Amino acid sequence: MSRDIKKIGVMTSGGDAPGMNAAIRAVVRACAYYDLKCLGFYRGYQGIIENDFEEMSPRSVKNIINKGGTVLKSARSQDFRTKEGRQQAYENLKEAEVDALVLIGGDGTFTGGLIFSQEYDIPVVGVPGTIDNDIRGTQFTIGYDTALNTVVEAVDKIRDTASSHNRLFFVEVMGRDAGFIALNSGVGAGAEEILIPEENIGLDTLLESLKRSKRSGKSSSIVIVAEGDKTGKNVFELAEYVGKNLPEYETKVTVIGHLQRGGSPTCFDRVLASRLGVKAVEFLLDGKRDIMVGIENNIITATDIDAITKGHNDINRELLRISDILSI
Ligand code: F6P
Repeated sequence: MSRDIKKIGVMTSGGDAPGMNAAIRAVVRACAYYDLKCLGFYRGYQGIIENDFEEMSPRSVKNIINKGGTVLKSARSQDFRTKEGRQQAYENLKEAEVDALVLIGGDGTFTGGLIFSQEYDIPVVGVPGTIDNDIRGTQFTIGYDTALNTVVEAVDKIRDTASSHNRLFFVEVMGRDAGFIALNSGVGAGAEEILIPEENIGLDTLLESLKRSKRSGKSSSIVIVAEGDKTGKNVFELAEYVGKNLPEYETKVTVIGHLQRGGSPTCFDRVLASRLGVKAVEFLLDGKRDIMVGIENNIITATDIDAITKGHNDINRELLRISDILSI
C-alpha cells in the first residue's frame, strides 16, 4: 500500500441521505485502523472554504450509525463553484496538511470534486449518498433503501384511508430526475400506476388505465408520481385533470416530500455505507484517485468520476413491465 497519504478529509455535500452517518463513521474508523489522521469538514465544500472542521477519532463517531441526517451537516456551496472559492479551499487544505478527500454525496458533489482534483492535485474519492439511486457506477446509493421503506410505509397507511372512502390517491415521491424511488416503492406498495420522468405515458393512457381498473371492480387506487414526472405539470394538476375526466373517482393528493430524506437508516443502508466508507479509504491508500466507490452484484467497485457524471442510471424496464402486469 502507498503511504503517501497521511491525512484524509471527509465531508457530506448535497441533499442528505439516511446512512451518511454510517459512511462518515466507516471513513473515520478506517483512517484510525490504517493510522491516518482524519478531519471532518462541516457543510461540505463550504466548510473547507471557511476552515470549519474538526479532527475526528473513532470515539467521535460513536452512536451515529443509527442516526439519519449527517453529523457533518450538508450544503450546496455556491462559493465552491467559483475559482476563488476553490483556491481558498485548496489553501486551507494545504495548511491543514490534508492529502486527500472522501466526498459523500451525489453527482453534483463529485463533479465539483473532480474539477478541484484536476486544478489542485488533491486526490478525491466519492461515496454515493443520495436517496434518488440515480448515480452511474453503483447499483445502490446510500439512503435509497431507507427512503423506499419510508414511502412504502406511508403508502400502506394511505391505502387504508383510500379503500375506506373509495378514493383515488395521487402520491408524489421524490426523484427530480429519476424514477427509482417511484418505480420500486410503487411495485412494493402495489400501486395502480407509476409515473416516472423516464417515461411519459401521456394523459390518455393514464385515463384509460384508470377506467379499466374501475371496470375491473377496483373501488380505490393509488398512483405514485415521481416529482420529475412529465405526464402532468405537477401532481395537483394531474389529480384535478383526472378528477374532471373521471368524475366517478374522488381524487386526493399526498406529497410525501422531505419525510423521505429522514429517519434511522435501514440495515441495508448501514451495511452498504460501512462497506463503501472503508473501501474509499483503502482505494486512496492503494493510490487510486478521482473515482467513486460503488457496488455491483455485491462487489465493491471503483469507477472514474469522469464516467459517472455524464448521465444517470437507467431505470429497470423489466420492473416497469412487472408493475403493468400486476395492476390488472
Ligand atoms: O437529490 C435528492 C432529492 O431528494 C431530489 O429527489 C429532490 O428533488 C431534491 O433532493 C430536493 O432537495 P432539496 O430539498 O435539498 O432542495
